[in-house]
Amino acid sequence: MPTLVWVNDRLVRADAPQILVADRGFMLGDAIFETLRARRGVVIELDEHLERLRESAVPLGIPLPADDAPLVTAIRALLSAEGLAGDGSDGRPPGDAALRVTVSRGAFAARGLAPRGESGGPTVIVQAWPHTPPTADSLQPGLTLVTSSVRRDPGSPLAGVKSTSRAENVYARLEAERAGADDAILLTSAGDVCEATSANVFIVRGERVVTPPLAAGCLAGTTRAWLLAHAASHGLVADEAVVTPGALAAADEVFLTSSVAGVIPAVRIDGAAIGRGAPGPFTELLRQSRESWIDRVSLGRA
Ligand SMILES: Cc1ncc(COP(=O)(O)O)c(C=O)c1O
Repeated sequence: MPTLVWVNDRLVRADAPQILVADRGFMLGDAIFETLRARRGVVIELDEHLERLRESAVPLGIPLPADDAPLVTAIRALLSAEGLAGDGSDGRPPGDAALRVTVSRGAFAARGLAPRGESGGPTVIVQAWPHTPPTADSLQPGLTLVTSSVRRDPGSPLAGVKSTSRAENVYARLEAERAGADDAILLTSAGDVCEATSANVFIVRGERVVTPPLAAGCLAGTTRAWLLAHAASHGLVADEAVVTPGALAAADEVFLTSSVAGVIPAVRIDGAAIGRGAPGPFTELLRQSRESWIDRVSLGRA
């Protein structure tokens, strides 16, 4: 367990209560968040994550400070205090960390759904954990997936918003667990593939890499955007297009993407093998490419 967390304006002990029970993030899931990766103390795609945090805040009307600088300072202070910012120059491996920034609307005096009464303003929390990036060997078994019974409504004003109201995602992950699988694929209300419970999904067919469009209601993943921009440098054609469950099942390769986990192969869907039923070569190529890009960014060489 981390020793320290950042709450509002300072580092505090992680094992002591820090937020009010009336905090709407706790009571209602009235909060937004970002999950990020850091290496050598450098936060990867920080600007993209901060921009998405702002975009998530808009539909919910959660007020964010105009200036990102205090949040960036908080992230850096926490990484240093937790010993996760090492650059590798002391002979130890460079620090790898998973970070989470959560901003709730805060605690309000009045109960109920509408934010009424006095409030001390938004609650800002930053957490950091040591992270070990998965290796090709550790990923060799690949993920097993099931199709969730939870559907995503692409027409919802909150589709693609990274709010902490994640009960549906939790439900879908529990469904996967109950089926003995690692993760679940959520379909749209029209029955097309949307995303996994905490990752975007890609299929590979020949030399074409396809991911559902944002119109499917999936999160605009930072790793997804990176892959769409970088796949061509590996001779692949990357596209956003509707993916049917049939196309996913018939793909040569399937992989999931997220900031912390990276590019993760999936090898089975609803009990049936995807492709050869083992991680595919393009997935591994893209995984390595993303990892080495992260390393170069952390060294200021990207
Ligand atoms: C539902 C969902 N989709 C996709 C992603 C991937 O987004 P990113 O690549 O920005 O981490 C996440 C990450 O947390 C997620 O929760």
